[in-house]
Amino acid sequence: MINVALPKGRLGEKVYQIFEAVGYECPAIREENRKLIFENPQRGVRYFWVKPADVPIYVERGAADIGVAGKDILLEYRPDIYELCDLGIGRCRMCVAGKKDFYDTMGRTLRVATKFPRIAKEYYSSLSRNIDIIKLNGSIEIAPILGLSDVIVDLVETGKTLLENDLEPKETIVEVSARLIANKVSYKFKNQEITALCGQVDQFCRLRAEQERREMA
Ligand code: PRP
Repeated sequence: MINVALPKGRLGEKVYQIFEAVGYECPAIREENRKLIFENPQRGVRYFWVKPADVPIYVERGAADIGVAGKDILLEYRPDIYELCDLGIGRCRMCVAGKKDFYDTMGRTLRVATKFPRIAKEYYSSLSRNIDIIKLNGSIEIAPILGLSDVIVDLVETGKTLLENDLEPKETIVEVSARLIANKVSYKFKNQEITALCGQVDQFCRLRAEQERREMA
């Protein structure tokens, strides 16, 4: 049985659809209920819905053999896991954003509000810029509007949240997408099962990306 940690929410649903499409279906997961664990013994797979930021914790500690997590979460928490492949979904970018009229004059310590303190610290340290991190847990866009921070470091997908709050992206720190990750011990002892699943998922995602590119052209 392969234990799979899926991120709760829209991304997790897309991920499950991919797993289902390559033969690891678990019909019970589509039933309306509040269950968090679903298994299909015939397919040898068990799914858990967990908070997106917790996926690497389950995988690192071996409660899940594999899981799907955003590159943002992997960069922030640096879990000791294997990153197996890029699913090419959940695409967005980690950005510095601020008010349209804000320019960093370098005159004083920059106040940065974020859910991703490590990514923000590493970025500004690579620029040798002194910052003061203000760690928030959501609705980060409010911070510069209320004067709590000068800028934010946050995920931008469509850019709508920034736009509707009169903010703009200033710099892109890193491109983000969903990654299939594996527990290191599971990867050794369930290698055949994990490699087979990963191979199918990877192939499916590549074909789909190619198809999307052709449709765009
Ligand atoms: C994320 C992110 C931005 C928003 C970006 O927030 O933190 O606020 O999505 O998306 P957009 O560019 O398409 O507008 P999330 O929905 O995860 O909620 P949060 O405020 O709790 O972080």
